[in-house]
Order: sequence, then C-alpha cells, then structure tokens
Amino acid sequence: MTIDDCSIINLQKIADPRGNLTFIEGNRHVPFDIKRVFYLYDVPGGADRGGHALKTCQQFLIAMSGSFDVILKDGKKESRIHLNRSYYGLLIAPMIWREMDNFSSGSVCLVVASENYDAANYIREFGDFLKYISTGANDQTH
Ligand code: TYD
Repeated sequence: MTIDDCSIINLQKIADPRGNLTFIEGNRHVPFDIKRVFYLYDVPGGADRGGHALKTCQQFLIAMSGSFDVILKDGKKESRIHLNRSYYGLLIAPMIWREMDNFSSGSVCLVVASENYDAANYIREFGDFLKYISTGANDQTH
C-alpha cells in the first residue's frame, strides 16, 4: 500500500434552508461494509491523535465540525491533508501510518471503519511499521 491508495471522497450534500444533510452508505460511498463508527471530540489544543497503522482495517475520516490535519506515511512518501468540510472525507487504506494534529477548537472527527476494534490490528510504533512493510510481513504469502 502507498499513500496513493488513499483518497478524498466527496459525499453528496443535500443543501436545505433547514440545514444541510450528508449520508454515507457502505459499499456505495465507502468501498467496504461499515462495521464500526467512532469519533474524536473535545480534543485539546495542540493534541495529536492517531500515530499508528492498521494491518487490515480501512478507515474513512471526516471533519464533522471544525478542521484538523491528517499526516499519511507509507515508509517512502508522506502527505498532509487538511480536512475541514462535513461532506468530504479521507479514505485511508490498510498499512498506512496516520497521525492527526492541528485540531481546531470544537472540532469533531468521525471515523467509519471496515472492522470492529481489535488491538491486534494496530502497529503503534513507527519503527515497527517500517520493519513490517520492509519484511513484507503484511503480505499474505509470508
Ligand atoms: P487510540 O487508538 O489510542 O486512539 P487514537 O489512535 O485515535 O489516538 O484509542 C484510544 C483508546 O480507545 C484505546 O484504549 C483503545 C480504545 N478504543 C476502543 O476500545 N475502540 C475503538 O473503536 C477505538 C478506536 C479505540
């Protein structure tokens, strides 16, 4: 996997004077069955979140309110993506290191995931991530 396997997905925005509406359906707007939703909120100024890669889980991140940055790393390249709209999000492939920072006050990050929570799915040390991808330990043939 490389950071080129991650993409911004634009969601439909149903504009309405009563308030806008956006929806996400599994296997339609995101390329997986939605197994789990979680959200980060009340993030104090200057805090960092993430700092891990997931072996198999795909995640789709949306700034439901406010804004934040997501830093993606694949061991060769990295990129910083600013999310600040409720109608688009960042699809992160498995085995991509992600960090999040620059949270605006009152921001909320919604995460839609392809798998239930499993601590064994996480690689939480960047050195371990680099080792993992260099040995091809994520390759099913190993
Ligand atoms: P963590 O993965 O460290 O948060 P982040 O990477 O966004 O900074 O998760 C914090 C804690 O929450 C950790 O003890 C695991 C727990 N947790 C769950 O139990 N279920 C979940 O779906 C998630 C995302 C976390």
